[in-house]
Amino acid sequence: MAKRVLVSGGAGYIGSHVSVELIQAGYDVVVADNMSNCDMTCFEGVKKITGRNDIPFEKIDCCDYESVDKLFTDFRIDAVIHFAAFKAVGESVAEPVKYYKNNLMSFLNILDAAKSHGGCNVLFSSSATVYGETDKLPVTEQSERQPATSPYGNTKQICEDILRDTVKATAVYGDEVMPGLDRQGPVKGIALRYFNPIGAHPSALIGELPRGVPNNLVPYITQTAAGKRECLSIFGNDYPTPDGTCLRDYIDIVDLAKAHVAAVSRMLDGKMEEDYEIYNIGTGRPVSVLELVTTFEKVNGLKLNYKFAPRRAGDVTAIWADPSLAEKKLGWKAGRTIDQTLESAWKWECHLKETSR
Ligand code: UFG
Repeated sequence: MAKRVLVSGGAGYIGSHVSVELIQAGYDVVVADNMSNCDMTCFEGVKKITGRNDIPFEKIDCCDYESVDKLFTDFRIDAVIHFAAFKAVGESVAEPVKYYKNNLMSFLNILDAAKSHGGCNVLFSSSATVYGETDKLPVTEQSERQPATSPYGNTKQICEDILRDTVKATAVYGDEVMPGLDRQGPVKGIALRYFNPIGAHPSALIGELPRGVPNNLVPYITQTAAGKRECLSIFGNDYPTPDGTCLRDYIDIVDLAKAHVAAVSRMLDGKMEEDYEIYNIGTGRPVSVLELVTTFEKVNGLKLNYKFAPRRAGDVTAIWADPSLAEKKLGWKAGRTIDQTLESAWKWECHLKETSR
């Protein structure tokens, strides 16, 4: 029988790409989403790409414990990948209570249900934001976390700590993860720290669907190229970097999704060396904002309207990953080139245009 993975927030940008890769790797998937920041476009796309019309979809809010508990009762869950969270850095500064309430409560409920149903494997979607501003680059998993610069970043740090503590506390229930039994059991955990996920599935059937004005660079670029936005502002060209713009580690969304499959397999195949493990998921290759813009223009044969603007509050100068631990332990490595990724981003934007989105 195929192992079943619950993907909370599975109708969103990252969750939908992860669902595709899980299904293609032979796992069964249950998608749970409250649809607060997406519509059914990507879930429908997952069904089309995988040719599976029978993927269970549960419209629930993970902040409601009864609903989460019912999921674990209705389905035998072998692993959970938890995405269900708010993610806009700026909004989190304006509305911290909303962010702490949603991001912490949903994860606490997942963990509570996981341990109350015989134990489970839990993969938490964390972020490179936990490293903050550092001049020791690239960052490894041993690099010290810095105080969070936003409530959003703080929720990532706190959730990592909650997972670590839960894993430690529930280890008393023994080594065997025995899902489906109505008893307390051990939780094993992996936190994946993503760098900057970008791009879309090569089929252009799923991708990022930002609501309103995009906060992130690539959707802003593609929307500007599509004529939805007038001009891209590059925030700051006076940083101490080779071309003065910030450096980031842009990771292709399909590569990122594959890292989840590798991590889930490690848990389900009993290969974990520690009960709680952390991995950086990036390419190890720093790319500047300006480089990204000019590469986008080159690979898609477009000219982008852009201007330099003042720095954006809260941005770190540079951050990129040392991804060697993920390669060593998960057997995972980013495979797609930045050119392929930026082509896929544009193809998705064109698909949205064709479907009048
Ligand atoms: N940028 C622009 N113009 C824009 C948007 C972004 O110049 O219109 C620049 C930013 O200043 C930054 C770079 O593009 O230098 C990347 O910005 P993003 O907003 O795309 O990504 P961030 O690196 O700020 O943040 C991302 C995720 C966060 C996560 C963080 C961790 O969005 O969720 O990485 O490093 F916390």
